[in-house]
Amino acid sequence: MPGRAVITGSNRGIGRAIAEALRDRGYELASINKTIDGAQWLGEIRCDLRDRAATRDAVRLAIEHLGGVDLCIANAAVRRLTGCARMSDEDWNDSIAVNLTSVFVLAREVIPALRSSGGQLIVIGSQAARQAFEGGAAYCATKAALKALCEVLILEEQPAGVRVTLVSPGATRNRPKNLDDHKMDPASVAAAVVSVADAPSDVLIGELELRPMNPLRSEITGIDRLTML
Ligand SMILES: NC(=O)c1ccc[n+]([C@@H]2O[C@H](COP(=O)([O-])OP(=O)(O)OC[C@H]3O[C@@H](n4cnc5c(N)ncnc54)[C@H](OP(=O)(O)O)[C@@H]3O)[C@@H](O)[C@H]2O)c1
Repeated sequence: MPGRAVITGSNRGIGRAIAEALRDRGYELASINKTIDGAQWLGEIRCDLRDRAATRDAVRLAIEHLGGVDLCIANAAVRRLTGCARMSDEDWNDSIAVNLTSVFVLAREVIPALRSSGGQLIVIGSQAARQAFEGGAAYCATKAALKALCEVLILEEQPAGVRVTLVSPGATRNRPKNLDDHKMDPASVAAAVVSVADAPSDVLIGELELRPMNPLRSEITGIDRLTML
């Protein structure tokens, strides 16, 4: 049942596609964005999610603006891909702040409103939580931490009638100029997110894992894949 939705990072990429899908389903939106797009329907509140106090204030403003919340999407993230030996404190700290701490602050601030509405929190994770890669220390670690955070939130909020879901996409074409055919379309990821929001009220989808149907193929197959580890 469409209602009131708060989303982070809806100015571009997957967040933008989710916002468009929710708008088309009839949701009223409040967006917590660092870069302001200017589209009225996004209901934008300017906020840098690295700033905890600003994040708290933005969530409160969003709830006030909408008069409550039925759906909250923690989407924004940064991808700082540097080998551990060369990663700066700034890249590490920004990754923790945006990808993990802001999700915690968002959850903490929005939970009372979600309890009132019997609403849902959807956290956008990543396959990078499971699939380590060189340069992914900050990204993989923060996305893996979201799995643990969501599992705790599920246990804590299920009795209060709030459903929490981790949506973990694989490679997604997040730039229009990015023509990688093997990646998923952001609109397809958005459709999956909407399907979680539309799930029957007696179903809690703990995690939804999304993989491209046409992934890049490795030359190495079968048991030889084990030699890649
Ligand atoms: N694309 C993929 O292949 C893929 C795969 C798996 C999971 N995901 C996940 O899907 C989500 C969206 O990814 P995407 O590919 O759409 O990313 P993106 O195109 O890089 O967009 C990231 C979004 O996060 C916002 N953001 C970054 N730092 C912020 C900050 N300090 N304060 C507020 N907003 C901030 C950005 O806003 P600005 O424009 O203002 O910086 C932008 O709206 C992320 O959680 C990502 O980890 C993506």
